[in-house]
Parts: sequence; C-alpha cells; structure tokens
Amino acid sequence: MRKGLRATAARCGLGLGYVLQMLVLPALALLSASGTGSAAQDDDFFHELPETFPSDPPEPLPHFLIEPEEAYIVKNKPVNLYCKASPATQIYFKCNSEWVHQKDHIVDERVDETSGLIVREVSIEISRQQVEELFGPEDYWCQCVAWSSAGTTKSRKAYVRIAYLRKTFEQEPLGKEVSLEQEVLLQCRPPEGIPVAEVEWLKNEDIIDPVEDRNFYITIDHNLIIKQARLSDTANYTCVAKNIVAKRKSTTATVIVYGFLYPISTEQRTQNEYGFSSAPDSDDVALYVGIVIAVIVCLAISVVVALFVYRKNHRDFESDIIDSSALNGGFQPVNIKAAR
Ligand SMILES: *[C@@H]1O[C@H](CO)[C@@H](O)[C@H](O)[C@H]1NC(C)=O
Repeated sequence: MRKGLRATAARCGLGLGYVLQMLVLPALALLSASGTGSAAQDDDFFHELPETFPSDPPEPLPHFLIEPEEAYIVKNKPVNLYCKASPATQIYFKCNSEWVHQKDHIVDERVDETSGLIVREVSIEISRQQVEELFGPEDYWCQCVAWSSAGTTKSRKAYVRIAYLRKTFEQEPLGKEVSLEQEVLLQCRPPEGIPVAEVEWLKNEDIIDPVEDRNFYITIDHNLIIKQARLSDTANYTCVAKNIVAKRKSTTATVIVYGFLYPISTEQRTQNEYGFSSAPDSDDVALYVGIVIAVIVCLAISVVVALFVYRKNHRDFESDIIDSSALNGGFQPVNIKAAR
C-alpha cells in the first residue's frame, strides 16, 4: 500500500514538475525577451531626442571657445572683436560696463555635431570715434557675456587702443671716432608709441643681426654695442623704430675706427672712465702719443732756432718781404701739429 502511494505521489510530483516546466519557463522566456526588446527601444529613443528626455543631465555653464583679443586702431580703420561660446542660448558684448546694442552684434549659431551643444559666435565693430569719446582714466575695453540654462559666463576684457608712433626719438645715436678694438656704445631710445616700438639698427643700409655678427650686441634698452671695433666697422649707423603705424629712422651716427696710432681723444677718455676699454691698451697708446709729441716738439724748436739764426744773419742784407714769407712757410707744419 505504502509503496503504491509513494509511487503515485512521485508520479504526481513528476507530473507537476512537467507542468511547471511547460508553463513557467516559456512565460519567463517571453518576459525576458520582451524585456530586452523594450530596452533596445529606449536606447533608440535616447539617441534621437536627447533634449526632451526628463532625466537628461543639466546643461553646463557656457564655455568660451574664443575670447576677444586686444586690438589697435590704426588711423581711421575700425577693429572687430570676436568671441565664441558653447553651450550658449544668448551671447552679447559689454563695453566699459555697458551693454552694446543688440543691433550692433553680428551673431551666428550652430549645433556642434559631436556634443550636440549649441555654439554661438558674435562680433562687433569698434570705431576710432567710439574709443576717442570714452572719457575717464581707463582704456576702452569690451567683454563677452554668454548665457546657458545654468547661468552666465563672462570672457576676459579686451582693450581697444588707438595706435600711434611719435616722430622724435627720445635719444639718438652720436657719431664717434675710436681706435681699433675699443668698445663702442651707440644709444637709442625710440619715440613713444602704442604699441611700443620695436627697434633695429642699420649699418649703412643693412640690418645688423647680432646672431650673424657676434661682434655686435643689442641691449634690452635698444643700445648698440660694438664689442671690439674693427676697421670694417667704420660706417654710418642708424636706429630704426617701428610699430603697426609707422617706421622712423633716427639721425645717422658716423663711427670711424682708426689704426692703433690714433691719439687719445675726449671720446676715449670718457669711455675709459666707464671702463669700456682695457687699461693696458690705453697706456700703450699714451706712450706712443708721448713719443710722437716729444719728437714734434724737438723738431719745432730746432726749426724755430734755425729760423731765428737765419733771420739774424740775413737781416742786414735782405728786405722784410722775404723774411715774412720764409717765416710762414717755416711755421705752417708746426702750427698743424700743435693743433692736433
Ligand atoms: C656716411 O654717409 C655720408 C652721407 O650719406 C657719406 O658721405 C659717407 O661716405 C658715409 N660714411 C661711411 C663711413 O659710409
């Protein structure tokens, strides 16, 4: 009996298991299949309509892709200021803390293909008159302001200035006479200008390139240094100042380089005070000059004495006319040498 009951129960259990298998599993399979199906549909939905989906992440603050840059007005030519931001629902310029009128903006918008964000760009024109009419201590400036749903972002300030270059140099180079291997300093301070003038030097008509010729050096404050004067450095030197408005030339300084017998001039003395040339060199020159002067003085004295004797001997026999011509002829070389 018991055995029979157990057998029926087992059979029944098997039957139940079978029924379950037949009903539940396909149902589960169906459910899971429909589940994956709907998920796939959601993906398509996200892809096509990102803006309208409620769980879309909040829009970030605008970011500037291009900010306005400082500009110079040359003569009467107006300048354009430009900026570009994303995401941006609106974008406008503010100049000197006041909004630029909407109609003065040129705006362009598009959707960035990779990010799907709106990119807006804007430009305005600033005339010389607008800049001149601004009163106050500050220069004319403009700034870009962009909006997104998250708030606003301001760009940096871009200054707009009227460019110029004055005519007169604040310091012009002076001509010099120097001896070989001496250091030469030619000074130049360019005329005042906006933007600040760039300076270059000309040797006769050619631009000096200190990289090419290491004997030249141009200081940060635009002075030209000839480290050791060579005979070939005898030339006309000109300082040239230029910016976007103009190019101006200084007066020309003529540098003459003499051989080693050149006597000490005031030039060299002043330079020695600044320690520009080395002491042994100038001592040598002094020695040579001393010897030359001594010889000249000896000669001069001999000539004077000789003339004196000659004149005394011949006074009784010859007229004064011959005397004076002889005197002039005799004294001329002495005069020239004494003047040196
Ligand atoms: C410098 O310029 C003057 C005038 O143009 C010219 O006569 C002179 O020969 C020049 N000097 C040198 C060293 O080139």
